[in-house]
Amino acid sequence: MTSTPHINPQGVPIAKTVLLPGDPLRAQFIAENYLSDVQQFNTVRNMFGFTGMFNGRQVSVMGSGMGIPSASLYAYELIHTFGVERLIRIGSCGGMQDQLELFDIVVAASASTDSHFMHQYKLPGTFAPTASWSLLSAVAQEAESQGIQLHVGNVLSSDVFYRHDPSDAQRWAQMGVLAVEMETAGIYSVAAHAGVEALALFTVSDHLFKGEETTSEQRQKSFTQMMELVLPVAAR
Ligand code: HPA
Repeated sequence: MTSTPHINPQGVPIAKTVLLPGDPLRAQFIAENYLSDVQQFNTVRNMFGFTGMFNGRQVSVMGSGMGIPSASLYAYELIHTFGVERLIRIGSCGGMQDQLELFDIVVAASASTDSHFMHQYKLPGTFAPTASWSLLSAVAQEAESQGIQLHVGNVLSSDVFYRHDPSDAQRWAQMGVLAVEMETAGIYSVAAHAGVEALALFTVSDHLFKGEETTSEQRQKSFTQMMELVLPVAAR
């Protein structure tokens, strides 16, 4: 039976579309609360993965861990060993623009980064990690029909959470970057290199300049809204 160093499904199928929350317990929560006929496909390193049904379609959900090294290795194995064709990261981000309020939903049309991950591709320039238009437009349509406002734009996928120089974030914000998180540029690059689709969306869990933070209960509620937006797209 097929396995990789980090994923051992023991014969449980993995769907063509995988939702990737950072936290494996979030993956479990999604499987238990939104999917039916759930089977667990991974326990390696407690990076839980599940496959189930939504609207009559098979959908998988798995933790990605934090940061580009973790998220991109799971993306790579899901695509190259298990034939996954669509990756949808669902996470949280730190707002960097005034128009962003806590619990708003940000969609990464593109992801800038301070990571060197893309250097491995030895491109003669700077690669711009970009969302799948098909997934992005489907989420935009779904948001419109549900009456949910989206902020779509560039995000920063940073290797650094505790920043030595806070003015770094100001410079990204000056370029119109909406928010900071830690995985998307890696996932988009792995997907682009493999010719598959990826999208990342986030709820705003804190704001770098407004100094606001959320409780875990509030985060859970806004996470629910994001799930209800993304599941119909994942199950198309
Ligand atoms: N920085 C990086 N990643 C994040 C943040 C942040 O402030 N908030 C949520 N994910």
